[in-house]
Amino acid sequence: MGIKIVGIACSPRREKATRYAIDRCLLTIEETSSKIKTELIDLAEYNVGGCTACGDCMDVMECSQDDDFSKIIPLLADTAVAGLIVATPVYFGSMSSQCKAFFDRCVLLRRNGFLLADKIGGAIAVGGVRNGGQTTAIQQIHAAMLVHDMIIVGDGKPGAHFGGTMWNDVVGGVENDTVGLTTVQSLGRRVAGLAMKVHG
Ligand SMILES: Cc1cc2nc3c(=O)[nH]c(=O)nc-3n(C[C@H](O)[C@H](O)[C@H](O)COP(=O)(O)O)c2cc1C
Repeated sequence: MGIKIVGIACSPRREKATRYAIDRCLLTIEETSSKIKTELIDLAEYNVGGCTACGDCMDVMECSQDDDFSKIIPLLADTAVAGLIVATPVYFGSMSSQCKAFFDRCVLLRRNGFLLADKIGGAIAVGGVRNGGQTTAIQQIHAAMLVHDMIIVGDGKPGAHFGGTMWNDVVGGVENDTVGLTTVQSLGRRVAGLAMKVHG
């Protein structure tokens, strides 16, 4: 049985820079190994509110909120999932509120057997400026992944920094951020390589 790596796009905007970055990352993963399938969850297409801390998911693996998160749960709980790559736009040096809501709602998976534990986690951040807080946003994603007991990686050798960092306001658009694209592709290869070692 093959393994699966899931990408989460956390921009409220469809088909923009964050989506471009995660699409390129998942494409790189598919090119890296025919044994890995990828799947994208674009939060711009889902309505996922913040956690209300009702506590219901301590007793049952269900969320009390009637929104689109119920469609996401089975995609993440799939035992074939070996890795998760979360891509966020940088908002005030942080992850987007969509990204935060996603992680907070995933507490349901933690409370029902740590279902994300040992999955390989990588992060991508896309800012409006070159150094607009991509690294701080990535570190927030890493923190949430650690609380899920995931195994976090950066973009691997030879660059080996924090993950994928892109800039959408480069002349000609995000597609022309060739430096950033390299980090996104390297992150994909790093997550794919370790996912195969640990879960393949
Ligand atoms: C509320 C808000 C806050 C932002 N704050 C930052 C920031 O702190 N640093 C930065 O580089 N870009 C910032 N930006 C710009 C976005 O990160 C940038 O446009 C990004 O590409 C958006 O991703 P998208 O094209 O997928 O929507 C901000 C944008 C918004 C709407």
